[in-house]
Formats: sequence, C-alpha cells, structure tokens
Amino acid sequence: MYISSNPSLPFGALFGRRLGNGSESCSGPSDSRIYKYSRAREAVADFLSAAGITAGDSVLLPAYICSSVLDPFLKLGIRILFYPIDRTLSPNVEAVRELLSQKPRAIFLVHYFGFPAGAGDLIQECRENGLWIVEDCAHTLPVPDGCGIGSAGDLTIYSLSKLLPVPDGALVVVNNPKLEWPETPTAVNKRLVFINMLWQAANAVEVSSGFSFRTRLRDKRAATKMITGLRESSSGGKPTLVNGSRSKYQRFQMSPLANRIRSRIDLASVAKRRQENYQVLKTAMKGVRGATPVFGDLDPAGAPLGFPILVDDREDVRLKLIAAGVDPRPVWSGLPREVPIAGFEDARYIAAHNVVLPVHQNLTPKTLSYIVSALERAIATSQ
Ligand SMILES: Cc1ncc(COP(=O)(O)O)c(C=O)c1O
Repeated sequence: MYISSNPSLPFGALFGRRLGNGSESCSGPSDSRIYKYSRAREAVADFLSAAGITAGDSVLLPAYICSSVLDPFLKLGIRILFYPIDRTLSPNVEAVRELLSQKPRAIFLVHYFGFPAGAGDLIQECRENGLWIVEDCAHTLPVPDGCGIGSAGDLTIYSLSKLLPVPDGALVVVNNPKLEWPETPTAVNKRLVFINMLWQAANAVEVSSGFSFRTRLRDKRAATKMITGLRESSSGGKPTLVNGSRSKYQRFQMSPLANRIRSRIDLASVAKRRQENYQVLKTAMKGVRGATPVFGDLDPAGAPLGFPILVDDREDVRLKLIAAGVDPRPVWSGLPREVPIAGFEDARYIAAHNVVLPVHQNLTPKTLSYIVSALERAIATSQ
C-alpha cells in the first residue's frame, strides 16, 4: 500500500469536458479581479509592486512560514517583521500591535490548512493603521460563494498545485480597486511544468503499484537537495535589473496545461471531499493516544491541505508511517534561518512536532482507516 500526500491526475481532467465557462469564481467582492500565475510567490512580487512597497519598506509575516514565502521579500530587499503565532496557528495580536510602531506597509495572514486565521479584529486594526491586508490561502482552494476565508483582505493568494494535480498554478484575487495591478506575465515556466509533470506521473505510478521510491529518496539528503535544486532553479526567481536600478522578480503565467486540468476539476466537490475526509480523521483521532490535532475540534472553513497533528517523537512517527506506506508530510519541519530564535517558541514547537496526514480527494474510507491504524501503530511503538 502507498498512500500519497498528493492526489493523482484523473484521466478526465486531461481529456474531459471543461466545467462551467472556465472563468474563475472566488469569494470576495463582485468586482474583484483575478490574475493567474505559475506560483503564488510571483503574485506576491506583483502585489509589492502594485502597493508601491519597495526595498527598505517592511511587511508583517507570521513566524511559522517556509522559505518559498520569503523568497520575493528577500530578493526585493523588503524587510520582514515576523510576528508570533500560537500553537493553534493564530496570530499573537499583542505582538502585532507592538510591531505596528515600526510602520510596516502590509500584513500577511496565513489561513493555515484551510482554517481561518481568526484575525477579524486584527484586520480592522491593521487597516486603520494604513496597512495592506494580504490573505494567504495557499493551503486551501478558491471556491465560489465563499467559505468564510479569503474575502476580508485587499487581496487573496492561492497556490493551486498544493491541492490539485496540476504542474503549477496560482491565483490572486484582488479585492481592493485601489491596487493597480501590473501587467501579468506571458511566459510559461516550461522547465518547472516538465519537472512537476514527471513528479505527477511518478505519483500515479507509485499509488497504483503500492510502492514509493520518492518517500525513500526524500530521506536521503543528497537526493532531496537535488530535487529541491531542480525545482528552485526552474522557478527563475532571481530578480533582474530593470532600467539599471529597479529590481524585478521573475514571474510566469499559469501554464496552459495547469489551466486545462484546473478547468476540468470541480473545485467545490474537491473541497467537500477534503472536508469530509478531514471529518473522518477528526473522529478517528479521538481514539488515538499521543496525537494532538492542531485545530482541536474545529472544522476547516475551506478545503484543507491536510490534517495536522502534533506528536512527541515526530521523526520516529514519520519514518514509521513511511515504512507503512503512508506519506506523512511534516509541513516546514524547520523554520527559515531568517526567523529569529527568541520569541517564536510556539512556531518552532509546531515545526518540530507536526505530522500532516493526507485528506486529499482520492482517499477512500479504506485508505483513511489504514492511515489511522498506521498512525496508532507508529505512535505506540515510537520511543
Ligand atoms: C502559506 C504559503 N504561502 C505561499 C506559498 C508560496 O506558494 P508557491 O509555491 O505557489 O509560490 C507557500 C508555499 O509553500 C505557502 O505554504
């Protein structure tokens, strides 16, 4: 048995009929504009330019984060002010308040795993202080008619390839008419699409054969480094000098292939399926000793990326799950070196103890119950 953390590409998504009129529909004001990119980080770079945030300016970002989110800020010379989050992944409002004295230009709120950041009052306060509000919905999907997240900020960012079997693809929904969006990119990141399609094919083969080479490879440092290197070098993220002075971040459009697949997948039913799978794991987890769901008894508002739990001996549990054929993704097992050590203990705790169980749309009652029993065994036998 091999249970991947990612869904496989359904045949119908390549050759089937396009659903609806193919245009995007997301929660947010009716006059929201939607732009497509290859990766969410490229949309972030364009937001910075639209908002006139330039080198030396600062922005607020949560400390539980990964390097790809930081990439555009670092490359464009934007100062990052990290704010702490607690163990339920909610922002520390007091800390944000204190950071406002440093005059940040924007705040990024991450709706981790499809759960609302719980920041209604914070959004209001930041708005009153003149900050742009960016809702980072990279861990969920844009579904029509809203799901309670992604409609309160000036813009919302989605990273489709985290939840859908697409080789690339990100969306930005711009809710604030004052944001004059730059011209969107026209080039396709062919290399990234090629690498990720190979990855998708390997995923499909491994799921049907019941054995995963990639999970074993991931534990070999050199192999992981090579794969990450291949992907990163294909991101083309190096800024270039424009007019001799201004830095420009390299951006790509969503590939036609990703667009084709995405327009043939019913996002609402994917979201529903993921939520149902989340529920199944939530109920089952009540009987698993030694696993603490990060979000307790709450249900995701949007399509969840996975089911995050905290366990004592994460590395041991993770390796045992892999040996049992379950791909348990730790999300950000280490924080980027830019996140200071002091003051961010909860973010570090989550990074060191999380295991994210799959809830994706291909899972069945049988595979979900296998995940739970594999987890029970892994915890019971961990040192
Ligand atoms: C919360 C969050 N935001 C943004 C991103 C960047 O997304 P992309 O890889 O599409 O640039 C990531 C990537 O892991 C992420 O986890």
